Formats: sequence, C-alpha cells, structure tokens
Amino acid sequence: MKRIFSGVQPSGTVTLGNYIGAFKQFTELQDEYDCIFCIVDQHAITMPQDRLELRKNIKSLAALYLAVGIDPNKATLFIQSEVPAHAQAGWMMQCVATIGELERMTQYKDKSTKSVTVSAGLLTYPPLMAADILLYGTEIVPVGDDQKQHIELTRDLAERFNRKFNDVLTIPDIRLPKNGARVMSLQDPTKKMSKSDPNKKAIITLLDDLKTIEKKIKSAVTDSDGVVAFDPVNKPGVSNLLSIEAALTDATIDELVAKYDGIGYGDFKASVAKAVTEHLAPIQSRYAELIASDELDRILDEGAEKADAIASRTLKKMENAMGLGRKRK
Ligand code: AQP
Repeated sequence: MKRIFSGVQPSGTVTLGNYIGAFKQFTELQDEYDCIFCIVDQHAITMPQDRLELRKNIKSLAALYLAVGIDPNKATLFIQSEVPAHAQAGWMMQCVATIGELERMTQYKDKSTKSVTVSAGLLTYPPLMAADILLYGTEIVPVGDDQKQHIELTRDLAERFNRKFNDVLTIPDIRLPKNGARVMSLQDPTKKMSKSDPNKKAIITLLDDLKTIEKKIKSAVTDSDGVVAFDPVNKPGVSNLLSIEAALTDATIDELVAKYDGIGYGDFKASVAKAVTEHLAPIQSRYAELIASDELDRILDEGAEKADAIASRTLKKMENAMGLGRKRK
C-alpha cells in the first residue's frame, strides 16, 4: 500500500478552502492508501499564537479530521509536537536547505509582510515541512495548490540529501484536487481563502453556523455583468463560487454553467449556499459529538505512538547517513 502524508495547521478554524484542498482528498484516499495525517502545531507557531487559543484549535482540528470522515482505524492521526523526530529531522533539513531558496518561497514573502516582527521559523519552516513528509517514506502528498512550491522544495531537499549523504529518503509526488485546488476569498477573489484572514466575511469556516454561511455567500463579491460563466481571470468571484459547488457536489463546471444559464446572481448564490450548507450540516453534527467525547485523546495517543515508531526509524537512517552521533542500528 502506498504511503500518504499531509498536515493542517491549527492556526484558526478550518476553512472551506482547507476542506476542499485537503480534507476532502484525505477522506477519498484513506481506503486505498496507508494514510498518516498530522496536526502541524509547530508550523502554527511561526506566526504569533495565543497559547490557550492554540490548544483549543489543536483539539478542534483533531475533532474536525474525524468529523469530515477520517477513520482512525484506517488512518493515523497525531500532533506534530508529540513526535520529537519532526523537530530533529527538521533541523537536519534546515542544514541541507539554503537561505536563498527559502527566501524565494511565496508564503514567506506574503506572511512576512503581514507582521512587524518576522520569526526565523517563518523562513525555515519549509525544511520542517519537508522533514514531516520525508520521515514517513511518503509517496504522495495531497494538498491544495498553495503548497505546490513547498512540495517542490521537499523533493529538491530530499534529492540533495540522497546525493550528498546516502540514498535513504523517498521522493514524494504532489496530489491536487480536480476542482477547488485554490478556493479564493469571498471578499477579494484574487486572494486565496485563508483561515487566518482577519476579515471573517471573506472566509467560510467549517464551524460557522449555517445561516452565517448563507449570508457570507450571498454577499460574496462578484461582478456587474450578471452572467454565470467560468472565467477565473475576468470573473474571479463567480468562478470561485462555481468551483466551490463543483468540488462539493462532484458536478462538472460545464454542467453547473448549463444549470445556471439565464439565472441571475441572487438565485445563483442562494443555490451555491444551499450546496455548501447541505454538505457541512452533517459534518457539524458529528463535530459537536466528538468535541464533547473522550475518544479524541485516545485516538491522538495511539496516533502519536504509531507515528513515532515509523519516524524514529527514518530519523536513525538520516542521522547515520549524515554522521550525527554514534552509528546506531
Ligand atoms: N484557499 C485554499 N484552497 C484550497 N486549499 C487550501 N489550503 C489552504 N488554503 C486553501 C490547503 O489546506 C491544507 C492545510 O493548509 P495549512 O493549514 O497547512 O496552511 P495554509 O496553506 O497556510 O492554510 P491557510 O488556511 O492559508 O492557513 P493560514 O491562514 O494559517 O496560513 C493545505 O493542503 C493547503 O494547501
């Protein structure tokens, strides 16, 4: 069985972008692949986080993984900071990466302009992400389009490590969703939807109440020509809503454009809102049960143990290859 690894940051409540770009793929893949899913809390602290809020977000993210349909009997779910090999291998990959290539990362350029003080971790987190993936001998990484550059860097770093030291790392491939690889902000559809966006009208979170979701979609920025057509360059708002509906209903964009032929934006938005709320309602009910149960801690403990066993083995191989410490079996 091929190995899959992916992670989500507990940096806020999961958005519809995270769901379509990542979670939806995860649930589709867990039957065919050996899946390892991670709550990457060490990535979240590259930006300022409130301690109590972070703890709450970690737990909430764990419950959401399960609420969207991740089955802990099939997939491994764990918290990054509970498996020390991540930070250890992350340091090694930092020493394989160059500052020049890290400074070229788009996410670093975007996020470093949003904060007065920029943490060193914001620059050096892509090698930690590479370590996350490489520790598990990962073959496929399902992510949204915004992570493409980081996966390319992961491949480059792994190839460089293998060439310089020893051939111990598996080179992973990226997997993007067919529709909704980049869900855009509802208020500025030229910008991606992000859970840390301070403008809450711009994002739909998986835990927004259904009426709020409806309102947000109805006030999404579109354009003035009144024709529902798919044209991401000239009609980014309408195209974003079409992509969202396509991703959630598995209808093709062409089918949706035909369905909305001659329909005004008011009815179009109401219909997209219906598709979104119908999809999210059962996820929200399951979430409410899970967040109140003790099941979560047990699943996360077991997940950390399983992940640690795999990651420690790769870490030993990496340390032996680099010549760190004494040679161990
Ligand atoms: N807008 C998006 N459309 C499609 N996929 C998306 N992803 C993120 N935004 C979109 C995918 O969600 C997964 C988890 O992302 P992450 O939490 O690790 O970090 P991120 O990509 O930085 O996500 P956010 O929501 O933008 O978080 P903040 O605001 O904290 O930076 C990834 O697979 C990502 O591709």
